Amino acid sequence: MLSTKTMTAEQLYARLKNIKVGGSFCQFSLKKCQELVPLINEINRLKAEKNAVILVHTYVSPEIVYGVGDYIGDSYGLSKNAMETDAKTIVFVAVRFMGETAKILNPEKEVLIPSDYNGCDLADCIDAAKVRELRKQFPNHTFVCYINTSCEVKAECDVCVTSANVVKIIERIPNNNIYFLPDNLMGQNLIESMKKLGVKKNIEIFSGSCCVHRDYHVDDVLRIRTEYPDAKIVSHPECRPEVCKESDFVGSTSQMFKYIRESLSEQFMMITECGLSSRLNVEFPDKKIVGSCTLCPFMKSNTLADILRVLKNPTDKDRVIIDPELLKRAKKSLDKMFEYGK
Ligand code: 13P
Ligand code: SF4
Repeated sequence: MLSTKTMTAEQLYARLKNIKVGGSFCQFSLKKCQELVPLINEINRLKAEKNAVILVHTYVSPEIVYGVGDYIGDSYGLSKNAMETDAKTIVFVAVRFMGETAKILNPEKEVLIPSDYNGCDLADCIDAAKVRELRKQFPNHTFVCYINTSCEVKAECDVCVTSANVVKIIERIPNNNIYFLPDNLMGQNLIESMKKLGVKKNIEIFSGSCCVHRDYHVDDVLRIRTEYPDAKIVSHPECRPEVCKESDFVGSTSQMFKYIRESLSEQFMMITECGLSSRLNVEFPDKKIVGSCTLCPFMKSNTLADILRVLKNPTDKDRVIIDPELLKRAKKSLDKMFEYGK
């Protein structure tokens, strides 16, 4: 059973007081922490009583990350946590496709999603019918879907990937003809990576993109380079190829976190969602984050109140329910990911 330790407002404030994202002042005061702590302690008590685990994506608000999260990470790390947990219930605080992935990997467990606003620009830009149509057009291609896709889309594809393993997996797929969906910008970055590695692949890509990452332009990067010549520029592969080319490091959320933890530099510009900058403020208060960041409205729609609600009294609307046949087909593409990603 997970710990039921209670948290004081002072302890929470000590964690959150360095967060500067969203302005130059910290938005967490001791008073705000005093308001949040009763809710946090009630969630932690209930989760132990109900044998639940709370998985939280880094992009979710800091009071959730540091108040109630049992595991914090990126989509790859959290899907591994979901596979390994003994808990009876998984509360997945992120977006729908991540909760669906947890359910596909744990069909016998209850998976709850707290927010109703749980879409994702990428996952919502393509459906199963479109994939079937593309498969007719490209019959000799291996269809690779980014994990940011619905269960129905995963069921129509051959292999799933995350931003943490996409390059390694594409390299290992025996077929040289690949159709990558749905992120066009990540697909372009992938083509560049294959060129750099000297790996010959014919990669077709779909037209989707993420509102959070496509909003950065190379001019933003060049301006920061001029203003802060010592800053390391760190980007997510959902960013534009021109942005990635100008960056010092490109990787998934957890890979970016690791790069900064291990870097000797003191200044960084984070070209990704604000949640990562908040975590860096908390966990590496001596490292300076320069420039601005962007918010994912879907991830940020999760609240402590909704987490408490789904733990207390879940309804079918909060549960991830997937038809068993569909789940089996979608699981094949995830199984391939773990097989190629080893
Ligand atoms: P990660 O795989 O880095 O968690 O990214 C998921 C995502 O949605 C990024 O926008
Ligand atoms: Fe989807 Fe973009 Fe939000 Fe990631 S940041 S969950 S890709 S909308």
